Amino acid sequence: MSQELFPVPAEWATRARMNEDRRMADHKRSLEDADSYWLEQAARLNWMSPPSKASESSFDEADFGISWFADGTLNVSVNCLDRHLADHGDSVAIIWEPDDPAETPRRLTYRQLHHAVCRFANVLKDAGARKGDRVTLYLPMIPEAAIALLACARIGAIHSVVFGGFSPEALAGRITDCDSTILVTADEGRRGGKRVPLKANVDAALAMDHCTSIHRVIVVQATGGAIDMQPGRDIWYHDVMAGVVSDCPPEPMNACDPLFLLYTSGSTGKPKGVVHGSGGYLLWASLTHELCFDYRPGDVYWCAADIGWVTGHSYIVYGPLANGATTLMYEGLPSWPTPSRIWQVVDRHQVHTLFTAPTVLRALMKEGDDFVTATDRSSLRLLGSVGEPINPEAWRWYHAIAGEGRCPIIDTWWQTETGAAMIAPMPGATALKPGSATFPLPGVEPQIVDGEGVVQQGPCEGNLVIARSWPGQMQTVWNDHDRFFQTYFSTFPGTYTTGDGARRDADGYYWITGRVDDVINVSGHRMGTAEVESALVLHAKVAEAAVVGFPHDIKGQGIYAYVTLNMGEEPSDSLRRALVQWVRAEIGPIATPDVIQFAPGLPKTRSGKIMRRILRKIAEGDVSAQALGDISTLADPTVVKELVRTRAIVP
Ligand code: PRX
Repeated sequence: MSQELFPVPAEWATRARMNEDRRMADHKRSLEDADSYWLEQAARLNWMSPPSKASESSFDEADFGISWFADGTLNVSVNCLDRHLADHGDSVAIIWEPDDPAETPRRLTYRQLHHAVCRFANVLKDAGARKGDRVTLYLPMIPEAAIALLACARIGAIHSVVFGGFSPEALAGRITDCDSTILVTADEGRRGGKRVPLKANVDAALAMDHCTSIHRVIVVQATGGAIDMQPGRDIWYHDVMAGVVSDCPPEPMNACDPLFLLYTSGSTGKPKGVVHGSGGYLLWASLTHELCFDYRPGDVYWCAADIGWVTGHSYIVYGPLANGATTLMYEGLPSWPTPSRIWQVVDRHQVHTLFTAPTVLRALMKEGDDFVTATDRSSLRLLGSVGEPINPEAWRWYHAIAGEGRCPIIDTWWQTETGAAMIAPMPGATALKPGSATFPLPGVEPQIVDGEGVVQQGPCEGNLVIARSWPGQMQTVWNDHDRFFQTYFSTFPGTYTTGDGARRDADGYYWITGRVDDVINVSGHRMGTAEVESALVLHAKVAEAAVVGFPHDIKGQGIYAYVTLNMGEEPSDSLRRALVQWVRAEIGPIATPDVIQFAPGLPKTRSGKIMRRILRKIAEGDVSAQALGDISTLADPTVVKELVRTRAIVP
């Protein structure tokens, strides 16, 4: 833990809305006088009928439920669009930077975005979408993605975005789980000069026997590549947009009505559909965007995430647009066609705030500082980090080289489930320590508990739980409220279990240490080891598989798979390659195993439970007797020796 302290820069001390005293006072009041604090905060949104109640949530089994602003009515798209029109309808809402730097960026003003959203909302209605229906979005990073999100919000349809890098199989699973009836996609996506066959993937997904709910596919022409259109099912976005009016009254939504669902990985089973509500979620996205980034008119704000993840939802679309910001949306990769690309985009659009992931920083660091220093970057004032623990080395590089020492690093800890940031610094208020997400935001009451759930005081390390509900908290797991309770509220009763470990130092700073469950974080992408295992055992030659994470210089964690083959099958390099391809096809490239070790057997207890602790150590290369610990309780202790021996020949 680095104890180096970076004070608030003078420029931020003068400009920021928050200082340290206000931050502390706000946090105290948000906990001690929660109802009045939150009803006051609710006024930052535009309500059709304002709420008279704040939280009516409970983490206890007897009256379990998450409910925020339950008697309030609003429409999220009105908050992100209509309410800005009178004062700054002509200011830029979205700057779109294409994958290929030779192409021309697009700019949409709030008025233009409003116009497009209302039209597309009418298109969705014509396609049969009604309040509460699910619409799946499988799109590249183009403005139409934001348009589609907001159009769903306008009519009260629940969007379910599936990351464009997921396979047809993964897409089909996510369509079927929520029975969505309409799918919005593009002909192809583009990333790093390569084409992503989105429509072809859609065709493959919809051809699967179990995937029958979609009756309409709306296709955006993004690249003009050749695709098949199925008559009666598939329609072009530009055709239908030309035929609708731009008047679309917003659907009044209860604050607790679902705004979206987003699938995320857990330690067991299939990815679950995390359900977020309307009022609480939007309040949280908007408030945290203001607290963490202190947006002011004229700033250009760039969150370099993908809309397929929660970061894209909350910090490319909902948070910034609710706050009337200019949000930059980038189609491509941070280091293509050159490792300078991310900084060139900063210069091209005079970006004030850049928000990206540690994995990106580590990859860029490796390329050398010249790619950074060759660019100007004088517009940068604030740098954000999200998705995984930021190692102090990457933090210092980001601060000193990218930000030339003048930009605070806003390291935001949160999860798909939390809706938006939970533990994070505020630029005018918080002295920073490299690698620490610092302090909880208002209303967030973190606790660190030991394995028995006993709350630890003072400096300590253990499991991170949250002791009370906050407005952005997910409301349920789609179609499985019981799984919601069991996953998050049964381990340490009375609290929300994050699945992360954390330390708190003597100054009260929080340091997230990573997942304590069987979830791994690969390049900021969350992956359940169970998902990769399920994909592997579907292969005809595989008898059993166990997957663990291991430290990876760039990705943070890599995927290490132990594979036991069926009797009679021989390990080979070609089979190893085939299994890697198999997993990519089953889940998508983000699940590509980095290492496959053929294992004659897996270390199991006598009751048959796989000892992952041992597998993690072997994957890390830490095979000392001390690291492996007591193996005498295993059903067959010789398995471990064999794994250690064969590890040496893994390429
Ligand atoms: O382990 C934590 C890590 O990412 C997990 C959540 O992943 P996901 O739901 O995909 O959301 C990513 C966007 C917030 C967490 O359980 N994580 C996220 N941000 C940080 C982090 N770990 C350490 N520091 C962070 N700033």
